[in-house]
Amino acid sequence: MNEHDPAPAERALTTEALVEAVTRELAGWEGDELAAFVNRQPESRDVYRSGSGMEVQRVYTPADLPDDWHDIGLPGRYPYTRGPYPTMYRGRNWTMRQIAGFGQAEETNKRFQYLIAQGQTGLSVDFDMPTLMGLDSDDPMSLGEVGREGVAIDTLPDMEALFDGIDLEKISVSMTINPSAWILLAMYVAVAEQRGYDLNKLSGTIQNDILKEYVAQKEWVFPVRPSMRIVRDTVVYASEHIARYNPVNISGYHISEAGANAVQEIAFTMAITKAYVEDVVATGVDVDQFASRLSFFFVSQADLFEEVAKFRAVRRFYAKMMKETFGAKNPQSMRLRFHAQTAAATLTKPQPLNNIIRTALQALSAVLGGAQSLHTNGLDEAYTIPSEQAMKVALRTQQIIADETGVTSVIDPLGGSYYVENLTDRLEQGIHDYFTKIEELGGVVAAIEQGFFQREISDTAYDYARRKASGDRPVIGVNKYVDAGAGEKIETHKLDPESEARQLSRLKQVRADRDPDRAKAAMEHLLAVAADPAANLMPATIEAVKAHLSMGEITGALRDVFGSYTETPVF
Ligand code: 3HC
Ligand code: 5AD
Repeated sequence: MNEHDPAPAERALTTEALVEAVTRELAGWEGDELAAFVNRQPESRDVYRSGSGMEVQRVYTPADLPDDWHDIGLPGRYPYTRGPYPTMYRGRNWTMRQIAGFGQAEETNKRFQYLIAQGQTGLSVDFDMPTLMGLDSDDPMSLGEVGREGVAIDTLPDMEALFDGIDLEKISVSMTINPSAWILLAMYVAVAEQRGYDLNKLSGTIQNDILKEYVAQKEWVFPVRPSMRIVRDTVVYASEHIARYNPVNISGYHISEAGANAVQEIAFTMAITKAYVEDVVATGVDVDQFASRLSFFFVSQADLFEEVAKFRAVRRFYAKMMKETFGAKNPQSMRLRFHAQTAAATLTKPQPLNNIIRTALQALSAVLGGAQSLHTNGLDEAYTIPSEQAMKVALRTQQIIADETGVTSVIDPLGGSYYVENLTDRLEQGIHDYFTKIEELGGVVAAIEQGFFQREISDTAYDYARRKASGDRPVIGVNKYVDAGAGEKIETHKLDPESEARQLSRLKQVRADRDPDRAKAAMEHLLAVAADPAANLMPATIEAVKAHLSMGEITGALRDVFGSYTETPVF
């Protein structure tokens, strides 16, 4: 404050006076220049809407800014609207973390090495369907799926091969796995212990977000409550043994890709977050013991400004929820850190090179929105899992944004934009509106059991599909500027037909070579721990995987303890 500054009361008046002046000028402009121009050439639509359907004004002014500038605040400071770190990309770029996963562990390891050589700064593993569902490669349900859409992991030796030659104390590893995530975490810890690593130096994430599976992705093994117990056990175990590890990556991505819009994505993700935090806190664990290692995962969709506003809104909502609802004291418990993936659902089979452009623009939104980690999709997304070439182009996209556009020089560069701030406010309000509805239904688990989320998502998905089919929602190359004939041909990823057979023989060998007494004892101990809801599953699971018990053997045995789950379909 210096002698020229107006007194606080005058300053407040200035803001009001400013809004008054702007509103007056806007009315004049609307009656003058705007009217004349609309007369000459009407605007192309009566109503303009954001990607999530929110009506947007033709222009925004200071009158649309939030009343309290502290809601915008500063980066690395509550409510974190502008980002989780005070220096953001000036201190460290976001992690360039391309997904890899196919065939046997060795094949995926080769892709890891390639991506690291191309400048990737984090690893991300996707698993085949059997692994995702907790089945062994030799399960009858696994036939034809082994190594197809991700890497096949059955036992600890597979995990050792997956990270062969990679220093896990130096690079963070994300594993996209949900119902069987705790088993892969156990294998990851076992590999680290066998290598003599300091567990508190390990950095990485398991997705482990089982509630969104019931809502969107539909990959579950056990019923909701035992599944929540497993998530809780991983969160508590990680907070006590692997301090830097992020034991759950609460995901909006799949909710979006199932058809939800931006508001639903962040609202449902926050509601699910609230359910996890309540569940862990209910066991007596202090919120500040684990909340700093909750991490998030959102899509970066097509509407550039709405996506930037979405990330800013959810950071602010989360900060306030952790402070006000859960009484968090540690600033890091209120700081939302997220990974973003560009929107696979926007990518097309016709004119696949267009997908490079879509992905680049979506990646730009993620960066302008302050993501901590990013996967850019392959141009061949609509065909199959990405080729090496597609992943190289996708990684280069991130590197060009980071090094050639200047967008990393200034933190939250769109902060203060009348439009983006207004959208941020409205999206934050949208979360509150959904929270009210979910509370009325009795909370997240009850809402899931009533099919509330599933119905909301399918309604939005249907509306989008109709608008795409009618051309109201342009998709270049698909319903606009369409090529006649076959169009561009591209090289796509080829699955090695021998992978499945090799994986089956390795699994058989591991079972034959293991110490049967040790395996039996480990299984009996695991079952005993599982039967005690107050006990933590992790230590016994680490013991079980070290005894070379397989993922399918573990989930199969626990199904007898936890039961299984069938969804009531909603229409
Ligand atoms: N100055 C100083 N330090 C900084 C800094 C700065 N400017 N910026 C970051 N750092 C530090 C951080 O504090 C952190 O230190 P720590 O590890 O000691 O905490 C370190 O540098 C790494 O930074 P981040 O933690 O921000 O970045 P990470 O990439 O390590 O973690 C995350 C990001 C979101 C927290 C983490 O959970 C993550 O990596 N998630 C990835 C999830 C993912 O890849 N999911 C893929 C899903 S694929 C899918 O589901 C789709 C389909 O398959 C269904
Ligand atoms: N390799 C690379 N990307 C993958 N995805 C899923 N599995 C893999 C894989 N094995 C990506 C795709 C998909 C999204 C769910 O995650 O983009 O659309």
